[in-house]
Amino acid sequence: LLIDASEGSARPIPQTLFGVFFEEINHAGAGGLWAELVSNRGFEAGGSNIPSNIDPWSIIGDESSLIVSTDCSSCFERNKVALRMEVLCSSEGTNICPSGGVGIYNPGFWGMNIEQGKSYKVVFYVCSTGAINISVSFTGSNGLQTLASTNIIASASDVSNWTKMEVLLEANETNHNSRLQLTTTKKGVVWFDQVSAMPLDTYKGHGFRNELIEMLANIKPRFIRFPGGCFVEGEWLRNAFRWKESIGPWEERPGHFGDVWMYWTDDGLGFFEFLQLAEDLGALPIWVFNNGISHNDQVDTSSILPFVQEALDGIEFARADSSSTWGAVRAAMGHPEPFDLRYVAIGNEDCGKKNYRGNYLKFYDAIRRAYPDIKMISNCDGSFHQLDHPTDFYDFHVYTSANNLFSMSHRFDHTSRQGPKAFVSEYAVTGKDAGTGSLLAALAEAGFLIGLEKNSDVVQMASYAPLFVNSNDRRWNPDAIVFNSSQVYGTPSYWVQHFFTESSGATLLNATLQTNSSTSLVASAITWQNSEDDQTYIRIKD
Ligand code: AHR
Repeated sequence: LLIDASEGSARPIPQTLFGVFFEEINHAGAGGLWAELVSNRGFEAGGSNIPSNIDPWSIIGDESSLIVSTDCSSCFERNKVALRMEVLCSSEGTNICPSGGVGIYNPGFWGMNIEQGKSYKVVFYVCSTGAINISVSFTGSNGLQTLASTNIIASASDVSNWTKMEVLLEANETNHNSRLQLTTTKKGVVWFDQVSAMPLDTYKGHGFRNELIEMLANIKPRFIRFPGGCFVEGEWLRNAFRWKESIGPWEERPGHFGDVWMYWTDDGLGFFEFLQLAEDLGALPIWVFNNGISHNDQVDTSSILPFVQEALDGIEFARADSSSTWGAVRAAMGHPEPFDLRYVAIGNEDCGKKNYRGNYLKFYDAIRRAYPDIKMISNCDGSFHQLDHPTDFYDFHVYTSANNLFSMSHRFDHTSRQGPKAFVSEYAVTGKDAGTGSLLAALAEAGFLIGLEKNSDVVQMASYAPLFVNSNDRRWNPDAIVFNSSQVYGTPSYWVQHFFTESSGATLLNATLQTNSSTSLVASAITWQNSEDDQTYIRIKD
C-alpha cells in the first residue's frame, strides 16, 4: 500500500460520514432502547375498540374470585380503554381470596429485568366504587419470588374519580425474568389504566436503557436517522407512524399498531424522545416522515397538503422557539431550547410509486420556503443518473450477499461529483452469508465502507441497518446489536462500525494498492487528531 501523506493529496472526510439508523423493528424501541418495562400499559393493544387486546397482561385468580374486562371509562381522551376488575372474593367471609390475592400481572417484554438494589418507579391510574387496598409488586415469572412490594391504600372518596398513583420500589433480589403484579383481597370494582414501570436509572434520566445506549455512544454516531424504515410507511397509512400522536404526556398518547413489523407500540419513544436521543448522543437528528405513501395505499398529490402541514409542524416542534405554537409544546415537554434538526427525509423507499414525485415536490417546495437551510433527502437513487426533481441528498439502500457488497466498494467511483450527495442510509450483507451475524458479512461491509470513505466527497452519510434486535422478536436478520431483558452484544457488523468510529471528520490520505488483484483487495488510510491526548493518529484499513 502506497500512502501519499502530503498535504496536497489529503482530503477531509465529512463530519457526518458515519451514523446510525434507528428503526422501531425487532422491538428495538418498545421493549428495547426505551426502558419502559410494561408492555401495553393502556390495555389498548387492539386499538380503541372494545374488547381490546390486553395481551400480555394476564389474570391472577379464577372466575369465582374475579372478572376482568375492558371498557371505555378512561379519563384519557385519545385512549379511552381501561381495564375493569370486579373482585368477588375478600379476606374474610365465605368467598376467601387465594393467598397473595387476585388481580393482574404484566410480564413486560419477555420478562422484566429487576435488579437488586435498583429502584423502579411504578405509576398507574386507578378508580373504584369503594376503598382500595392494592399490592404493587415485582415477582418472579411464576409470581412466587417477591423482589419488591408495597401496598396502596385509599379511601372510597380518594379514588371515586380517576387518581394517579406513584410508588418507588427498591428490589431486594435480582431476577431477569420478572413481572409486575397488581393484586388485592378487597371485594369491589376497580379500574386501572396507564400502568408504567421504569427503572429510575436511565441514560441522562431521559428514559433510555443504559447498556443499549452505551453501545451506540461507543461508535460515536454523527447522526441518527429515525424512526424508520418501513415503520414510517406502514402497510396501510392508517397504521403509519404519525409524530403528533407520539408527543405530549405519555399517558395521553394513543399508541399504535405497527403493521409492517406487526407489533403494538405505546409510543413512549416518540418524536420528542428521538430528538432527545440524538442530542444525548451528540448526533444530528435525521427525521424520516411519512409522505402520504404506505406499502399499499397513497394519498393523491391533490390532497397531500395536510401531510405537508404535518411535516412543517414537526419541524417547528423540533426547532422553533417556544413562542411558536409547536415550539411551546416542545418547551412544555421540558426542552425549551430548539433541537438541532437540519435534515429531513421525504418518505422511505417510495421512489417509483405513482404519487412519489408529485407529493415530494409539494413537501420540497413548502419546506424550502419555510426553512431554506434544511437539507432534504429524496428516496430516488441519483448515483447513476440525474434526478427529475431537486434535492440535497438521495437515499441509497443495499441489502445483498457478501461478494456483491464487497464489490460495491467501487459503486460510487464514477458517480457525478456535481449535484446532490449520497446518503447510504441502509446497508448490510443479508441472507446465508450473514445469518444472524457473521465475520464474512462484516468483512464485506468493511470493504464497502472503505469504498465509501474513499468516495466521501460524494457519499456524505452512511448507516447500517437494522441497528437493534430483541432476540425474542427477530423480524429481520442480521442486526448490529442483539439484546434481551438483561444482556447485550454486538455482532461482527457492529464491531466493523466500531472500527470506523474515527473516520467521520478525519483526513483521507491518498492510498494506492500496489497489486494486480484489485477486485479482492481494498484499502484506505486516514489520519486524525485525538482531542483527548492531542496526538495525531493514522489508521490503515485493508
Ligand atoms: O432495515 C429493514 C427495512 O429494510 C427497512 O424498514 C426498510 O427501509 C428496508 O426495506
